[in-house]
Amino acid sequence: MPLFNLSAMKYSELPKGQSAYIFGIFSDIGIPADFKTAHPNLSKQITLALENGEFKAKSNQSMVFYTADCETSKRYIALGLGESEKYDSDMLRQVAATAAKRVIELKLTSFAIEYMGETLLAPDDAQALAEGLVMGGYRFLNYKKSDDDYAGIEEAIVLGDADIADAIAYGMNISTGVVVARDLGNHPSNIATPTYLADTAEAIAKKGGMKTTIYEREDFEKLGFGGIQGVAQGSDVPPKFIIMEYMGGDKDAKTLGLVGKGLTFDSGGISIKPSAGMDEMKFDMLGGAAVLGIMAAVAEIKPNLNIIAVVPATENMNGGEAYKPGDILTAYNGKTIEILNTDAEGRLILADGLSYITDKYELDGLVDFATLTGAVVVALGHRYSGMMTNDQDFADEIICVGKRSQDRVWQMPLDDEYAEDIKSKIADIKNTGAAREAGTIAAGAFLREFVKEGTPWCHVDIAGSGWLKKGRPYHPEGPTGAGVRLIMELIRSWEK
Ligand code: BES
Ligand code: ZN
Ligand code: ZN
Repeated sequence: MPLFNLSAMKYSELPKGQSAYIFGIFSDIGIPADFKTAHPNLSKQITLALENGEFKAKSNQSMVFYTADCETSKRYIALGLGESEKYDSDMLRQVAATAAKRVIELKLTSFAIEYMGETLLAPDDAQALAEGLVMGGYRFLNYKKSDDDYAGIEEAIVLGDADIADAIAYGMNISTGVVVARDLGNHPSNIATPTYLADTAEAIAKKGGMKTTIYEREDFEKLGFGGIQGVAQGSDVPPKFIIMEYMGGDKDAKTLGLVGKGLTFDSGGISIKPSAGMDEMKFDMLGGAAVLGIMAAVAEIKPNLNIIAVVPATENMNGGEAYKPGDILTAYNGKTIEILNTDAEGRLILADGLSYITDKYELDGLVDFATLTGAVVVALGHRYSGMMTNDQDFADEIICVGKRSQDRVWQMPLDDEYAEDIKSKIADIKNTGAAREAGTIAAGAFLREFVKEGTPWCHVDIAGSGWLKKGRPYHPEGPTGAGVRLIMELIRSWEK
């Protein structure tokens, strides 16, 4: 989806004749006095709507008004902000998303929107308004012919008293990353192949002055990438091991490592999945998509730190050479893995990713993203990502930036004793845990075996948070872009 232009402006600078003017009303405060003075007739209409109960100003409610006596705009859209006590920057993100959706319903290409609830928020919080507008207005129409020529939102203006231009621009840059991740997740597996992910990485790298290295199937054996090699064996679609290096930091800057599961289609392999819902397994590259989305935002923001990103990308298929239950694979760090279920493939390609990145680079922190287990959906649903760590201080940082960005993570335990669950009789470890027990943690315990000792690491399972069956204000159904806002907030805190 292309992004629109968003600029900040003072109220007095707004040109007349807008196609929509969007403003918020708190359910407990009602229409502010200065609004009443500026728009007496409109205020009367809103008062009637409130009195009649048609518009209660509940959060995410909206109502369109037309009024003949105001030249500012052709129409006015009132947004419910809910109770002022409960209002925060995430509510702003939500109502901004609701506004964008309403604008699209009306097939408008431009509008002006107030920095709603400005008196309760900081100028920096205007970032959430930009994010809400883009994320709420997100549409993926690449494969669907439309019955009209409405091209979507092109131009929007945010009105505020405070100096919010920088926060708006920052929010737009972060949204760029979310859109990249969502688009990748929406493309089907016959388009978003490992080659497509590699090409995307190269395009992002070119923009952001980054270096890319792409390893091919032929390289896997000599490099010792036995995990991705094994998983990729069953597919004729060329796998790729994608590495991106952004060295934007000065000499004291920290280095962040990112690894994302880029499984472009997960059939389960020989341990094949049931056919119902298998189409959704195009989403199994959302970890890789999050990493590429982060790098796309980094290419815009160019933060003062270094970032290494690794995305092992392949399909998990059932071709003649497919790896089989009972096979033993040797990962990049030399550990042998007994395969007991070919559907637990994500951890195998991540094993190479994690051991390669921690072998080659000195990292101050490493985060991996993966749609790794169905069990995390059972445990946490679709609101929080499941997080496990080998370093509590780093985990606390991730939890904190998760709260700030509202790209939330919930920590699960990863005591050493969970290593018992992945003990194999014949190899160093096996790729499954105990049947129906702590499946998400068993996967975390498996990945821990491939992170070099001393690297602070968090594993983030986005199998639930990454994809929604039912939309929410700023997340339509489908891919959410989980992980992008989380890491962009971490990057900002590391820059300070
Ligand atoms: N990509 C899936 C995880 C997944 C499954 C996400 C269903 C969302 C919904 C992963 O590769 C997988 O199949 N994991 C197995 C592991 C098991 C075989 C140990 C799972 O979670 O069932
Ligand atoms: Zn699988
Ligand atoms: Zn998978």
